[in-house]
Amino acid sequence: MPFLFGTNFKMHQTPSETAAYIDELLAFPPPPNAQLFLIPPFTSLTTAATHLHGSDIWLGAQNMHWAEEGAYTGEISAPMLLATGANLVMLGHAERRHQFGETDGILYKKLWRAINAGLQVLLCVGEDADQRGRNISKEVLALQMKVALGDLHTDALNSIMIAYEPVWSIGVGGIPASPEIVAEMHNWIRAVLIDMFDIEAMNVPILYGGSVNPKNCADYAGLSQVDGLFVGRAALTPMGFMDVLSRSLEARS
Ligand code: PGA
Repeated sequence: MPFLFGTNFKMHQTPSETAAYIDELLAFPPPPNAQLFLIPPFTSLTTAATHLHGSDIWLGAQNMHWAEEGAYTGEISAPMLLATGANLVMLGHAERRHQFGETDGILYKKLWRAINAGLQVLLCVGEDADQRGRNISKEVLALQMKVALGDLHTDALNSIMIAYEPVWSIGVGGIPASPEIVAEMHNWIRAVLIDMFDIEAMNVPILYGGSVNPKNCADYAGLSQVDGLFVGRAALTPMGFMDVLSRSLEARS
């Protein structure tokens, strides 16, 4: 499978800033053997889709509501996302879980809707520092996946990607996970998926995210357990994005 590589812009960028980012990114030669994706804020999606036209970069949203439509003020539905040109939605980012109270049960409903609407899903999972301290990281990951992916049909597995993003590794003050932890937890995620879906789960990509930067990306990308990287701060500029990407692909080759 191609190396998956993408970024979540979080609550950064106006539409014109996203447009400028994409134009600059597309000026670089397209990397071989990589599938790229960008996840800007909702308000940038339509502009992003226009500027990505003709490229094979996936466009994702940062969240979605589980209902198709209805009295849900301030929310965005799967059909609305598709209409912008997005083909991917990220669900369960740590900031959604911890700052906005998203539970595994809510994520199950969102994931089901997204898949049925024809969106690809990047499901984020990860334990927090307290859970790691209590030595229950594996239980936490298993629970997150077993609830959110619940009774998913194996046919839908090709619409799913998992990002392992330990909460303690994300954002300002985050500590990048050691490659040993990443390898161990990716093996565990794969084992849980195989337990749930059998051999078909071998093709579900598992990405790592959390304080990935130009210095540490090669250590992660060199691991056979890592199918891609999901980057925040280090990819806030197109130059940063390309720098981390090219170092990762070098480590891969
Ligand atoms: P970071 O963000 O790379 O800035 O730690 C990662 C994320 O939140 O997905």
